[in-house]
Amino acid sequence: MLSRLPAFTPLANLPTPIQPLLKWQEKTAGVNWWIKRDDLTANAASGNKIRKLEYVAHAALARDADVLITCGGLQSNHARTTALVAAQLGLKSHLVLRGEMPAQWNGNFLLDKIAGATISFITPEEYAAANWQIMHTVAESYAAKGIKAIVIPEGASDALGTFGYAKAVEEIIQQAQAMGVSFDAVFCATGSGGTQAGLILGKALYGWNATVYGINICDDEAYFQQKIRTILDGVRADYLPEFAAARQDIRLLDGHIGDGYAKTRPEELATLIAFARLEGIILDPVYSGKALHGLMKEFNKGRFAGLANILFLHTGGLFGLFPFEAQFQTVC
Ligand SMILES: Cc1ncc(COP(=O)(O)O)c(C=O)c1O
Repeated sequence: MLSRLPAFTPLANLPTPIQPLLKWQEKTAGVNWWIKRDDLTANAASGNKIRKLEYVAHAALARDADVLITCGGLQSNHARTTALVAAQLGLKSHLVLRGEMPAQWNGNFLLDKIAGATISFITPEEYAAANWQIMHTVAESYAAKGIKAIVIPEGASDALGTFGYAKAVEEIIQQAQAMGVSFDAVFCATGSGGTQAGLILGKALYGWNATVYGINICDDEAYFQQKIRTILDGVRADYLPEFAAARQDIRLLDGHIGDGYAKTRPEELATLIAFARLEGIILDPVYSGKALHGLMKEFNKGRFAGLANILFLHTGGLFGLFPFEAQFQTVC
């Protein structure tokens, strides 16, 4: 299967480091904690999305794209990364964002503007019902002017984008070998499913022993069972006919979305703050911080007793932290 992997354009600074969490693990006797620093994949285009865009943007270039269209929330990390990657590749970007023009430009939205993205706003209802169709309508309006626009799905979480995290597994295996560590499990925040799907694909492609878990920060287990299955079915249909993932390969730690997507609670911020003060690493309230909070709750219930080496994938999201200034002021 390895000889038929899709082509990509290198964009990220790889490999990202894997570091031990020596102070964090003092809270969890007997277990070694590690972090994969995918928050360091780039400068402003940092985080997990750039690994997927290495594949998706490559395909867009191969189709002579002029514009990359994608969608997300107002503070979407994926939209920001797409805007910056488009700039890097000499393309334009058009972002279809859920919400309205904000009074204050901050976080990812500010970076979208700096990157020169054209931005359309749609309502949450339009986004939920028809973001894909709306992006295609935008693409048609470019086509009418003779401009080739390529639509990238939310999170670049399609069959092609998921190869970004399959390739990350190869990187992790090489790093683990060099460090003499065998990871029992890897945990990541799951928001549109592509990162987790890619880790599952990489596990199959490279024969990795670690068990892959996603901590969903929106929707629920049934939604992500279906979403990740659809992405992996796409891998089989479009690229690797002999690849098959079983239902039990898609493991979620459900029940940790708290007050909902992009909403935070003091207890979640407390985990993020404790982590920053112990390890000097900043997580974000929407994805990585909420995921670590959920993971620690499960861990403290004894769910992962017996594991020796746990790898937490830091998927980035730093810029999405800044719009939470008011909530941080109540707890810091
Ligand atoms: C910082 C960050 N972490 C994790 C995720 C989740 O990754 P995925 O969309 O591949 O599930 C996202 C996006 O959804 C993200 O922006």
